[in-house]
Amino acid sequence: MQLRWAHGPQVYVPAATYSTIAPGYFTIDVMPRLPFITFEGSEGCGKSTQVKRLAARFERSGIPFLVTREPGGTAIGESIRELLQFAPHNAGMMPETELLLFEASRSQLVREIIKPALERAVCVIADRFLDSTTVYQGAARKLGRQFVEQLNAFAIGDCLPDITFVLDIDAETARSRMQQPRRADRMEQQPAEFYEQVRAGYRELAAREPTRIVLINGSGDADKIENDIWETLRARFPVLAKTPNIRHQTSNI
Ligand SMILES: Nc1ncnc2c1ncn2[C@@H]1O[C@H](COP(=O)(O)OP(=O)(O)O)[C@@H](O)[C@H]1O
Ligand SMILES: [Mg+2]
Repeated sequence: MQLRWAHGPQVYVPAATYSTIAPGYFTIDVMPRLPFITFEGSEGCGKSTQVKRLAARFERSGIPFLVTREPGGTAIGESIRELLQFAPHNAGMMPETELLLFEASRSQLVREIIKPALERAVCVIADRFLDSTTVYQGAARKLGRQFVEQLNAFAIGDCLPDITFVLDIDAETARSRMQQPRRADRMEQQPAEFYEQVRAGYRELAAREPTRIVLINGSGDADKIENDIWETLRARFPVLAKTPNIRHQTSNI
């Protein structure tokens, strides 16, 4: 009998002398599991900037990592992303439809990309994950927090992030940053109150889950934010300080 858990050394387990159980070999996972890190916050708060900076640090430090984003990150998810954000016919999309499309994209991403990567001891950095749905569809679109949380749980299974950085900035700062040319998506065309509801939703979530969620002042200097994130990660996951260079991947984004 051979139970394969991961890529560690095989350990022989003799059956008890009079047992009817056959002798078994199984594999012990000695590769340290690396954390699943997510970035959250409203549009323009600096998520993608910090994801890139963290990825660059990991690369310099020889930490195996994978970067992904939501919605998207898989071929199926990228089609859903286009539909959700840019398709010309999405103006009439119902909030319920929107919620289910986000969860569909997430279900695929977790099973196709995130879980397999974590099981291979690759660190995952995600630009948005389940908290975006809790806040955008639950708090801001008011679809019912409990129901949204149930759908989130169905989509992610046991794949909860180990740590989540929420970058918190006010609507005005975000708006001034988004003057730069970029492809405005459907969420960015929402009124200012929506933006405030999203921000409040994230702050409330951070207060509810202070162990997982780290609230960061996103209006500060980008270098300082990058350093704070790195120091927090190193303190919380000492394994990041001693991981050898193995491989890097970028999911389909
Ligand atoms: N700390 C910061 N200070 C000033 N500008 C920033 C900072 N972080 C990001 N930016 C700029 O703000 C804009 C939005 O940042 P981005 O990382 O794309 O945000 P998000 O991914 O959260 O929408 C970009 O032009 C980026 O260069
Ligand atoms: Mg972004």
